[in-house]
Amino acid sequence: MAIHSSNNNYFYIMFICSLLFGICSSQLTSNFYDSTCPKALSIIKSAVASAVAKEHRMGASLLRLHFHDCFVNGCDASILLDDTSTFTGEKTAAPNLNSVRGFDVIDNIKSQLESACPGIVSCADILAIAARDSVVSLGGPSWNVGLGRRDSTSASKDAATKDIPSPLLDLSGLITAFSNKGFTTQEMVVLAGAHTTGQARCQIFRGRIYNETNIDTNFATSMKSNCPSSDGDSNLTALDVTTNVLFDNAYFKNLVNNKGLLHSDQQLFISGGSTNSLVTNYSNSYSAFFADFASAMVKMGNLSPLTGTTGQIRANCTKVN
Ligand code: HEM
Ligand SMILES: *[C@@H]1O[C@H](CO)[C@@H](O)[C@H](O)[C@H]1NC(C)=O
Ligand SMILES: *[C@@H]1O[C@H](CO)[C@@H](O)[C@H](O)[C@H]1NC(C)=O
Ligand SMILES: *[C@@H]1O[C@H](CO)[C@@H](O)[C@H](O)[C@H]1NC(C)=O
Ligand SMILES: *[C@@H]1O[C@H](CO)[C@@H](O)[C@H](O)[C@H]1NC(C)=O
Repeated sequence: MAIHSSNNNYFYIMFICSLLFGICSSQLTSNFYDSTCPKALSIIKSAVASAVAKEHRMGASLLRLHFHDCFVNGCDASILLDDTSTFTGEKTAAPNLNSVRGFDVIDNIKSQLESACPGIVSCADILAIAARDSVVSLGGPSWNVGLGRRDSTSASKDAATKDIPSPLLDLSGLITAFSNKGFTTQEMVVLAGAHTTGQARCQIFRGRIYNETNIDTNFATSMKSNCPSSDGDSNLTALDVTTNVLFDNAYFKNLVNNKGLLHSDQQLFISGGSTNSLVTNYSNSYSAFFADFASAMVKMGNLSPLTGTTGQIRANCTKVN
């Protein structure tokens, strides 16, 4: 019955889309679970709120999981699949290894949803909703999350390595990495504003604090105390040196002051850079940042979802059925 209901949704939406001659860019709808799992949104919301209350960083980690899922062959929960002796997932790809986290929170949400409505809510949708709820929990903007994504039966370590942008990229490389996924330069800049929260490891930003010149001197000195030139690789530091547990526009203010932590962060505001005025504008306008971030997150969540009868609804997010 549940399956019929999702199929009905699907065919109804496809019908509307065909009436509009392909104007529909996405088959996701925010009321997708209203009849099949009415408690889905509230279950996810309270689980995220309690995880973030326990550890603020978890909000950042859940937001990043959705990004690293969507940039690798679309928002299909491929990042959640564990490696086995016969299967290579994405967790060991360089951008993810010893870095992405939050899997336990997702698994906990999934088991609550399987008890409430077995076989209905996809892991990919959980990631999308948890990302939104995390941002809200940290004081950021909200947006309507389109739903109806299904879960992949495959993953790609190669695509994860290639498609998730490296923190060593220069501005032109960042623009290309996002343009490859259909994002404008402005959308890239606003999405990077996610680094208003969360942390990074010493090994990721060491080159910047020791070797770059477009960095505030006091900021560099203070970062070095917890990140020696050849030790403490895994030591963590806030991506936003001013208000790290708040989702606000301080990230952009930091960039204007040469206090970006990652090489890639500061690339958005460099001498003569083409994105400087965007950064300045977001540093001056909380509301412009919030509105544009919310729209760009909706767009990210629409990256190549599996819908209709493609993919599956995993029973356990860490493995295919
Ligand atoms: C613009 C290109 C981007 C690059 C090069 C980049 C790179 C990174 C790196 C290297 C880290 C630290 C990893 C570590 O030390 O373990 C990080 C953390 C983070 N990134 Fe990005 N990122 C980018 C864009 C984004 C986007 C678009 C989002 C989400 C919309 C995002 C969300 C986060 C969050 C929230 C954290 C902190 C995670 C935590 O504390 O668990 N990033 N990013
Ligand atoms: C999902 O599968 C993993 C690996 O088999 C297992 O450790 C975990 O407990 C399972 N999760 C649930 C909620 O059953
Ligand atoms: C800084 O640059 C020098 C010269 O390129 C290099 O030898 C050194 O390893 C770099 N230091 C860090 C911390 O990246
Ligand atoms: C790493 O961070 C911890 C906690 O702040 C600190 O005690 C330790 O000295 C740091 N390690 C290095 C090598 O700086
Ligand atoms: C920045 O804001 C100013 C003033 O509102 C506006 O004229 C300008 O077009 C904005 N720049 C960008 C790149 O959006």
